[in-house]
Amino acid sequence: MSDNNKTGSGLSHEKIETSNFLMIVLILLVLLFGGLVEIVPLFFQKSTTEPIPGLKPYTALQVLGRDIYVREGCYNCHSQMIRPFRAETLRYGPYSVAGESVYDHPFQWGSKRTGPDLARVGGKYSDEWHRIHLVNPRDVVPESNMPAYSWLEKSPVDADSLAVHMKGLRTLGAPYSDEEIAKASDDVKGKNELDAVIAYLQVLGIHRK
Ligand code: HEC
Repeated sequence: MSDNNKTGSGLSHEKIETSNFLMIVLILLVLLFGGLVEIVPLFFQKSTTEPIPGLKPYTALQVLGRDIYVREGCYNCHSQMIRPFRAETLRYGPYSVAGESVYDHPFQWGSKRTGPDLARVGGKYSDEWHRIHLVNPRDVVPESNMPAYSWLEKSPVDADSLAVHMKGLRTLGAPYSDEEIAKASDDVKGKNELDAVIAYLQVLGIHRK
C-alpha cells in the first residue's frame, strides 16, 4: 500500500473506509437524517393527518366488517388505493388521498390486484348483489376466480370485544363518543358476518366521489 492517500491525522477518508465499525455508524447516521427529513414533515402536513370533509369513523357494524375483511385476507387480492393515473381514475373514480384513511388502522391500501381495487366500491352494487357475490361469486360473475365465503352468512358477529376495539380506535384518533361505544354491541345485535362485511364494503370511498 502506498502512503500517498494519507491526509494527516484525524478522520481521514482512508480511516473511515477501512473501519467496518465507523462505516456502519456513519451510514446509519446518513440514513437516519435522510429518513427524518422525509418522514417528519408528513406528521405536520394537514393533507396527511386531517380527515377529508365529511369523512366519518366506521360504525360498530362496519368496524366488525373491516376486521372480517382483514381476517379473511381479502387484501391479498384487493387493493384499496386508486393511483393518480388516467387509466385508474377512469375505471375506479377519483384517486385516493391520505385524508380518506385517517381512521383506518391498519390501512388497507395494498398493491396486489388479483381482483379489482375496492377503494370506491361503496354504493356500486346493491347489498343483495354483495350477498350473492360473497356467498358464491360465480352466481353473478361466471368467470370469477374469487373464493366463495359462504360461512360468513352462518356466523353471528362477535360483539364482545367491540367496545374495547372502538376505544382502541379512539385512542388512535377516531372521534367516538362514550355513548357510541357503550351501545356498540347493541347496534350489531342479531347481525351475521356477511351483514358486517357488506356494511363495510358499502361505505368504502363514498366520501369522495
Ligand atoms: C383469490 C383472490 C380474491 C380474494 C381472496 C378475494 N377476492 Fe374479491 N374479487 C376477486 C376477483 C378476481 C374479482 C373480480 C371478479 C368478481 O367480481 O367476482 C373480485 C371481485 C370482488 C368485488 C367486486 C368488485 C367490483 O368492483 O366489481 C368485491 C366487492 C369483492 N371482490 C370483495 C371481496 C371480499 C370482501 C373479499 C374477502 C372476504 C374478497 N373479495 C376476496 C378476487 C378475490
